[in-house]
Amino acid sequence: MSLFNTDKIRIEDLKMLFEKHTSVKIIDVRSKEKFDQWHIPGSEWVPVNEALKTSDDNVFMDIGFNSDKPVVVVCQEGFLSRKAMEFLRDLDLEAYSLEGGIKEWSRVWNLAKIKVGDTKIIQIRRAGKGCLSYLIINNGEAAVIDTAVDPGVFIDLAGQNQATIKYVLDTHIHADHFSRGRLLAGQTGASLLMPGQNLVQYDCMPVYDNDIIRIGQVTLKAIHTPGHTDESFSYLLDGRFLFTGDLLFLNGAGRPDLKSDEATTRRKTKKLYHSLKKILSLPGDTLILPGHYHKPVRFDGKPVAETLENLKKNLPLINLSEKDFILEILTDIPDTPPNYEQIVELNIAGHAGALDLAELEAGENRCNSQR
Ligand SMILES: [Fe+2]
Repeated sequence: MSLFNTDKIRIEDLKMLFEKHTSVKIIDVRSKEKFDQWHIPGSEWVPVNEALKTSDDNVFMDIGFNSDKPVVVVCQEGFLSRKAMEFLRDLDLEAYSLEGGIKEWSRVWNLAKIKVGDTKIIQIRRAGKGCLSYLIINNGEAAVIDTAVDPGVFIDLAGQNQATIKYVLDTHIHADHFSRGRLLAGQTGASLLMPGQNLVQYDCMPVYDNDIIRIGQVTLKAIHTPGHTDESFSYLLDGRFLFTGDLLFLNGAGRPDLKSDEATTRRKTKKLYHSLKKILSLPGDTLILPGHYHKPVRFDGKPVAETLENLKKNLPLINLSEKDFILEILTDIPDTPPNYEQIVELNIAGHAGALDLAELEAGENRCNSQR
């Protein structure tokens, strides 16, 4: 029996296959260069890109391609993959073309849950981009931190947990994805909280250092942790869970260079160091919940999280002296994220108009200072 009764599948169909751990072969028919830049984890590059563009013969027959599993074909926009799918079906293989191409992969998300007492933390992960959002629920009330997927996802999750979203917060003005926080606040009537700054051009409530936000019976404490950006905040839930945004990741620290000249980057690196020091003084069992993951996020339901104690053991970077930390960060700054200047401008404006966000946000995450 076939997986689908159509030859073109949507990204939601592929997401379902991942969720069910269905065995499929995903092949990528773009150029090798594009595949190397970004691809669906587990997908296989097949060298047919040029031949697909020019030949009407079955290019898969020429390379002796075969598969004992259903095949999902991925290309840039979803056009070459249709041609490839037809060739594969001519070979009697069960093949599907991914509609919209690789950029659709940036929209796919999955969940992990943490429950302690009456508090539930749901980590919503964009599998391809590594962006992590959080829904915190306690006693019928909820808050969202860093709204990186469609508002409907949070509204549905809150509804499933009989909770009302009271607050929507961002840790900082993002450079890798358009924040859906303003949309979510608009759709739910929740208060939109942003780090205190003079940049954004829409109405929101400013958050300042040591502010306390109540969610049901628990509190979220705002901690100003500049460095990645000047306005960056971390949020400490119940004194035990720290949402670090792009300050601290499981593999390192946030990058301080975006939209900054050399002198500003140096100044921000110093701030980054001191913000990390502030965080490192928290108890060792504080669970660090970052704003990004440096790898594709698996469909395994395991939270991307680590105790502060373990991060101190595993990350030499955060144990360096100020001088060595600055040297380390400044000598190895990775490539800038795609479209980051435009994304920052959109987040300052608070709306994305009719832009295709999947196109704008395509590509891996590059918010951390480590390659
Ligand atoms: Fe960021």
